[in-house]
Amino acid sequence: MSSAEAAAASLNQADTTLADKVIEMRDVSIAFGGIRAVDKASLDLHRGEVVAVLGHNGAGKSTLIKILSGAYKRDSGSIHVRGAEARIDNPRDAKAYGIETIYQTLALADNVDTAANLYLGRELRTWMGTLDDAAMESKAREVMGRLNPRFQRFKEPVKALSGGQRQSVAIARAILFDAQILIMDEPTAALGPQETAGVADLIKQLKADGISIFLISHDIEDVFDLADRVAVMKNGQIVGTAPVHAVTKDEVLGMIILGKCPPGATAGPGAVDI
Ligand SMILES: Nc1ncnc2c1ncn2[C@@H]1O[C@H](COP(=O)(O)OP(=O)(O)OP(=O)(O)O)[C@@H](O)[C@H]1O
Ligand SMILES: [Mg+2]
Repeated sequence: MSSAEAAAASLNQADTTLADKVIEMRDVSIAFGGIRAVDKASLDLHRGEVVAVLGHNGAGKSTLIKILSGAYKRDSGSIHVRGAEARIDNPRDAKAYGIETIYQTLALADNVDTAANLYLGRELRTWMGTLDDAAMESKAREVMGRLNPRFQRFKEPVKALSGGQRQSVAIARAILFDAQILIMDEPTAALGPQETAGVADLIKQLKADGISIFLISHDIEDVFDLADRVAVMKNGQIVGTAPVHAVTKDEVLGMIILGKCPPGATAGPGAVDI
């Protein structure tokens, strides 16, 4: 083992001694027709950890997280949640494991207000069977107050809200039902700088609350600000994973563009020999 490899091994040793492992994906694969969209990908997530998943368009990032969120069923490989083998065949299964996903499209109901969006499909009812609007609004105020204390527009349809406010409604909906693991696919792609900063604050707060996050992002600055570790994908394969403090931005770009794994990273099957 070279000294660089030894250094990488010890760093990754430190990594795996992080508190509880909440997700362990091993050799997960899925093909669409002839295309191996995800090819033997292995990736972990620990409690309170933010892992950024990076890679070019078509690298397999969304497909990998859709396997975890139950949107796609993997062809092979295993998923363990909090140490036990998990059966995730559909989104309901994933939610039962406390895994919630916020897709780039947010999937909000534009014409109704924040409380109605938080409880969409899971409405609270009074003993008479009617909608318990008061209870839903009160809980909505509590959760939104935690995420975004300045937010006051509870009576407006969410289509009137800003991009950042809509993002916080989507996050509130995910954590309302005790999500422990959050998957965010490009949460800031459609936002301006100020709103991006707001979402970054939200992510830091969720992390402080012990929530574990897979963050798909194209923005390397965001990634270095928010993530504990990076995982780079290329052609459906993991090029490598690394603690952010062990790699430079240029090295991560080298992983994304060339598939070249730097000394501070642990190489995956997608790493090229250079
Ligand atoms: N439902 C599908 N049917 C067929 N092919 C698919 C499907 N979903 C994804 N693919 C293919 O799988 C590969 C991986 O796509 P994926 O969307 O996971 O990439 P990505 O890394 O999320 O890219 P982007 O940065 O553009 O979001 C691509 O070649 C894509 O065309
Ligand atoms: Mg994608």
